[in-house]
Amino acid sequence: PHSPGRRDPIVLVGMMGVGKSTVGRRLAARLGLAFVDADEEIEKAADMSVSEIFERYGEAYFRDGERRVIARLLDGAPKVIATGGGAFMQDETRRLILEAAIAIWLDADIDILVDRVSRRESRPLLKDRDPRTVLTELAAVRNPVYALAPIHVKSIAAPHEVAVDRIMEQLT
Ligand code: S3P
Repeated sequence: PHSPGRRDPIVLVGMMGVGKSTVGRRLAARLGLAFVDADEEIEKAADMSVSEIFERYGEAYFRDGERRVIARLLDGAPKVIATGGGAFMQDETRRLILEAAIAIWLDADIDILVDRVSRRESRPLLKDRDPRTVLTELAAVRNPVYALAPIHVKSIAAPHEVAVDRIMEQLT
């Protein structure tokens, strides 16, 4: 069990479509902490959508901004932070998270991810490609890295509240 001290932020990592933002928001409400979505913070800072940043400046530029935004969020008052699926894959970003926060890998079967990404707005890494193919490839590479998070919670189809319950069990 990992008890979040007053000074430990909680960072949700995992594949796109797994529900990090929804689960993070609800987890924050339960813990009485603020919730922040790192991708939204990047969009605010850049005054552009994530897709636009990828298109205009490329992924490396996005990853750089992502790292700086996450570093800033980790530094402030403790909160629950949802990260984009690629954040934890970046060595320096992952190091910052593991050092300063309790990282939680929110995981789900590929069918759930495919279903969820097809219901939301476009994601640059899925643009013009078959979501199942991309997600399967990404999961194969990323899951071993997500597994470095000290807490692993598997999300089932619905509702997100079940995942929140499972995280709460691990935290207390
Ligand atoms: C990405 C996931 C996205 C976003 C960007 C890249 C990734 O966030 O950061 O499109 O590399 O998996 P979500 O995980 O919230 O979709």
